[in-house]
Amino acid sequence: MSATASPLLQSALAARFRAVRRQTIEITKPLTPEDMMVQSCPEASPAKWHLAHTTWFFESFVLREFLAGYRIFHEDFSWLFNSYYESFSAFPEKRLRSSFSRPGLEEILRYREHVDAAMEQLLDRGPDRGPEAEALRRIELGANHEEQHQELLLTDILNAFFTNPLKPSYRDQRSEIGDRDGRERGSQGAIETRPLEFKQFEGGLGEAGHAGVGFCFDNELPRHRVWLEPYALANRLVTCGEFAEFIAAGGYRRPEFWLSAGWDAVKQNGWRAPLYWTEAGGGWSIFTLRGTQPLKELAAAPVSQVSYFEADAYARWAGLRLPTEFEWEAAAGGQPIEGNLLDSGNLTPVSTALVPSQDGAKHREGRPTQWYGDSWVWTSSAYLGYPGFRPLDGSLGEYNGKFMSGQMVLRGGSCVTPRQHIRATYRNFFAPETRWQFPGIRLAK
Ligand SMILES: [Fe+2]
Repeated sequence: MSATASPLLQSALAARFRAVRRQTIEITKPLTPEDMMVQSCPEASPAKWHLAHTTWFFESFVLREFLAGYRIFHEDFSWLFNSYYESFSAFPEKRLRSSFSRPGLEEILRYREHVDAAMEQLLDRGPDRGPEAEALRRIELGANHEEQHQELLLTDILNAFFTNPLKPSYRDQRSEIGDRDGRERGSQGAIETRPLEFKQFEGGLGEAGHAGVGFCFDNELPRHRVWLEPYALANRLVTCGEFAEFIAAGGYRRPEFWLSAGWDAVKQNGWRAPLYWTEAGGGWSIFTLRGTQPLKELAAAPVSQVSYFEADAYARWAGLRLPTEFEWEAAAGGQPIEGNLLDSGNLTPVSTALVPSQDGAKHREGRPTQWYGDSWVWTSSAYLGYPGFRPLDGSLGEYNGKFMSGQMVLRGGSCVTPRQHIRATYRNFFAPETRWQFPGIRLAK
């Protein structure tokens, strides 16, 4: 940026910013303007809102502070597209986001262009105000924030299309499944599930939390010591076929497998299966971003859209348990970040055999796989600050820290998480009854 910044760092950040902004627009390409207005469950937001809010983030936390003479695109947008930053401005109730027919989509797209042009100025010549390092940090945070919203945009569209009686597909069901190196690996239906095995870990004194120079969120810090008793983790995620056995065994009718709050949720919500499973003609079908598919086609694919309560009940039924976030991190640390992530383009969890770059030789050696992608792994760890946790200064301190109550940690990313976005120390978090995202199960003992 200015004379004090490394030109390499500056151009890398500029490239990252542009790529992330482009990718968000790319994700909305299959959507109509009407699709982009739907807010079909309390957790979701309309796609149009995601386009505006991610732009608001750069305007509010980067351009207003660091680009002298920046012209605000629209005075009302500064509160209209605020999500939850109480110390920044007032904001509308979340459930009202689907009523934002105005501003129209075209105006939102102009808002994005306006902010992108100003960001280019700033990236080109450096910040006019404030410490440069802070401007850089905010831009990187904004890129990571937008990637989180890319994942949310897709999970929200999946819910929107599921609630639509026509059950539209975001992506053609017949489009090939595989990875970037090997397309057309065949249909999911013919795939056999890899036998479930457990890998033993010694445990002992280790460390958890982010180390090194790359980006991380404040909730991944500080790195600190953790003690682990010996433990074992499953070599892969729980599949849809295995979860169907839990259902067939009366899993949803037997309170002995459930936490008290989980059993309450089963009764109150009438849960009988994961969120997008429907029963017709004596069999289950699963709705995905590639449309509705029979369970037998997806039997070897990792299960997703289960709440923490369902994951925990499944583990108890199987005589096992969920891993803690520290067990998962110790095991996944050092593993390459590869798998069925957003970049593979599959947009749904798939069997390991269909993603050779994730699996390949590791499969034959019997080593654990699916560390990243497919479905987030619910851990048994409550979402809390690490010892010595300090939120970011100012309004951005509200990003993560204020949600540290009543939520559980998830690890590893999903089939709609950008590869660039995920790492071993990354902590996602949701309330235990949450199902609309892509949460799944890895067993431990
Ligand atoms: Fe956000």
